[in-house]
Order: sequence, then structure tokens, then C-alpha cells
Amino acid sequence: INTTLSRDEKLLAVCQLLQDNIDYYNWVGFYFANQETQTLHLGPYVGAETDHTVIPFGKGICGQVAVSNDNFVVPDVAAQDNYIACSFTVKSEIVVPLFVDGENIGQIDIDSHVIDPFTESDERFLEFVNKEIAKLY
Ligand code: SME
Repeated sequence: INTTLSRDEKLLAVCQLLQDNIDYYNWVGFYFANQETQTLHLGPYVGAETDHTVIPFGKGICGQVAVSNDNFVVPDVAAQDNYIACSFTVKSEIVVPLFVDGENIGQIDIDSHVIDPFTESDERFLEFVNKEIAKLY
């Protein structure tokens, strides 16, 4: 990735690369935490536009990861109570926290149009991606 790009441009390029190359990654984006307001804020993303640009900590899959500091794999979103629906085409989701110096500063969020596509390989891969992204901070 060209180093003259801004950090947000690099994050957008990562989203695009992932969505282009992994067929079941249909929406790929980043949310970033604001600890003062206890909210997540949508960063660079590719895929359908979403109304959920601000998510309170604890709310939805993303909000839960903001407080758990743990990966969250949802094989079937219909089976989740604490879930924020963006689109009826979304069937499953994976959220992996982004740590910078041990602090959970945000997350990568991926939605899929198929049921149960995410494996431990996706978790390891996205942890690796986030470790690379952490170097930009
Ligand atoms: N489904 C997420 C909300 C964000 S959208 O997937 C872009 C959630 O439940 O937190």
C-alpha cells in the first residue's frame, strides 16, 4: 500500500482488498471507540451505506466487543438478541477488536450474506490484519 496515503485511506484500501478477495466478506468496515462518550464511531468502510455511524458501548455485536475486548463470531444474526440490523441481506457477522499498545481502540467489522461462513482462520487472519493496522498508530 502506497505510503503517501493517509491512515484513513489505508484503512479504506484494506477494507476494499478484503471485500474484493474474500467472497463472503460483503461489508467490511472499522469502528473506533471514544472512551469519554462510551460510543463507537464508524470509520472507513466498503459495502452498503449504514445508518449506524454511532453505536453505544454494549449495544449490538460491535458495542459488546467494545467492552469484552474479545472476538465475536455470529454464525446467524437471527439468533442474536443484542444485534443491530443494518440490512436484511446480512446473515452473519464477525467483529475483531483492534489493540494499540494493549488498548482496545476499535474494531474491524465484517458482515456476510451467507450463514455461518466464518472459521477460526478468519479470526486468526483478522487478528493479523489488525496487528498490521496497529503499526499505523
Ligand atoms: N451489526 C452490527 C452493527 C454494525 S453494522 O453491521 C455495519 C452490530 O450488531 O453491532
